[in-house]
Amino acid sequence: MEGLQRVKKASTARYENLKFIIDKYKPKTICEVGTEHGNGSVFMINEALKHHDEIHFTGYDLFEGQTREMNIKEKNGKGTTGSKVKPVPSLSALTNKLNKIKSSNPNFDFNLIKGNTNETLKEDSFDLVFIDGGHSPETVENDYLKLMGSKVIVFDDYLLPERWWGANSVVEKYKLDIEFCPNYFYIDGTIKKGMAKKSTYQVYITNGMDSN
Ligand SMILES: C[S@@+](CC[C@H](N)C(=O)[O-])C[C@H]1O[C@@H](n2cnc3c(N)ncnc32)[C@H](O)[C@@H]1O
Repeated sequence: MEGLQRVKKASTARYENLKFIIDKYKPKTICEVGTEHGNGSVFMINEALKHHDEIHFTGYDLFEGQTREMNIKEKNGKGTTGSKVKPVPSLSALTNKLNKIKSSNPNFDFNLIKGNTNETLKEDSFDLVFIDGGHSPETVENDYLKLMGSKVIVFDDYLLPERWWGANSVVEKYKLDIEFCPNYFYIDGTIKKGMAKKSTYQVYITNGMDSN
């Protein structure tokens, strides 16, 4: 964990880390569990297109199926749970965004799957998986087990020092040999009670894949 860089915004850390991973492993097939509005999806696709023109993206989300109950269960606090209610992600809006990328990159293709990944996710493998859907231990475990044959798997929101979100429990339960992405965000307690004094990291595992 030495030499990691603390950055001012969680989103900056997350996207810089995804760029780091894509530059290192140059994936052609990418799966994002939890696309939300597609900000991360579009970012990853554009980064991957810098290395190859033939990119396939698979995205999973509840989309319009997001409910307050699901957001509470999945610790998706930035969604419809808080006082600052965010718009529910739209499958058609993200389809339009990705079709735009496809119109200027004919070898790019994608599919988006709507629903709860505990029901929709099938066993599959990809060059890169970003697990950032439901953050409950059960859902992160489900998502990991379905996609564990993938070459590189990045987990969002690995929290230290406390260990009570999904990524932490899966890393611990399966004794995963994680590496830390280089940027992290320190939650200083201004966000909400109970989140104080933790840092959130993205961590990843590789299935014997060398960077190229
Ligand atoms: C933190 S957001 C994802 C942000 C996105 N990866 C990005 O970087 O822009 C989490 C998303 O996971 C979705 N989600 C939560 N629980 C889920 C579940 N059980 N199945 C499918 N999607 C889920 C939510 O609808 C939400 O859009």
